[in-house]
Amino acid sequence: MDFPNKTILITGASRGIGKATAMAFAEKGAKVGLNYRSNDEAAEITFKELPGEGHQLFKRDISQKSETEALINDFVKEFGRLDVLVNNAGISIFHEIDSVDFEHWTHAWEKTFETNLFAAANLCYWAAQAMMKTGGGHIVNVSSRGAFRGEPTKPAYGASKAALNAMSQSLAKKLAPHNIYVGVVAPGFTETEMAAKTLTPEERENLLRESPFKRMAQPEEVAHAILFLASDEAAYSSGTIIDVNGASYLRS
Ligand SMILES: NC(=O)c1ccc[n+]([C@@H]2O[C@H](COP(=O)([O-])OP(=O)(O)OC[C@H]3O[C@@H](n4cnc5c(N)ncnc54)[C@H](OP(=O)(O)O)[C@@H]3O)[C@@H](O)[C@H]2O)c1
Repeated sequence: MDFPNKTILITGASRGIGKATAMAFAEKGAKVGLNYRSNDEAAEITFKELPGEGHQLFKRDISQKSETEALINDFVKEFGRLDVLVNNAGISIFHEIDSVDFEHWTHAWEKTFETNLFAAANLCYWAAQAMMKTGGGHIVNVSSRGAFRGEPTKPAYGASKAALNAMSQSLAKKLAPHNIYVGVVAPGFTETEMAAKTLTPEERENLLRESPFKRMAQPEEVAHAILFLASDEAAYSSGTIIDVNGASYLRS
């Protein structure tokens, strides 16, 4: 899989899975646009580490509706076309139904859906407009194992990712005649800041036991699946959801 001079926009690319994905595309010859929200320091570090030339940083809060159109416009102005969109940015907020007040409950639902679903949907909209003008492209959405197995401590997170899966499959059908291919990667726990921040040492131990591999995924392993779905060879895999969870949760 090579991406010589392909233009790739990755949301949430300052760190974690987004960073590993940016590195992997850049190593394969792509020009990468790195979107992030606020962490300038992490974004600058990632930007400087990218191999090759012609990459660009795009600081925009994609949970704001107007920012999604602006992001795609800025990207196309800079690179001339958009070949691949990776909707990777995501947040998760604890809100257990038996212990939070209603204000916290509704805040968690609204914030989670704004970033994990509405931002991805809005970026799909603007990306599709751009890709239809240039003959096609690929969209890869980063979901989660939580969409399938339930997230009792973060129900909005699980629901947002299940909705992301459903939206991706609807768009895969609708956009195929336009040569736009839509796929999903659903990681299990992956060794990133998001995972580290939300885990106590005991939880971490329990979690490692979930997979017969007795470890978490590395961000590079998730990136590999994203690159596959973004490749021309994966066109007929449009609509698929690839699990990267170390056989910790097997759905039929
Ligand atoms: N890590 C896991 O165990 C795991 C498991 C399953 C699925 N996933 C999914 O994989 C994706 C990446 O997760 P990760 O663990 O790599 O995340 P992470 O390390 O927490 O990084 C999150 C990234 O998203 C960006 N971001 C968050 N909100 C944003 C917004 N409103 N606008 C623009 N950028 C925004 C952050 O930017 P700043 O740096 O500026 O804050 C950062 O670049 C997420 O969709 C997550 O749900 C992760």
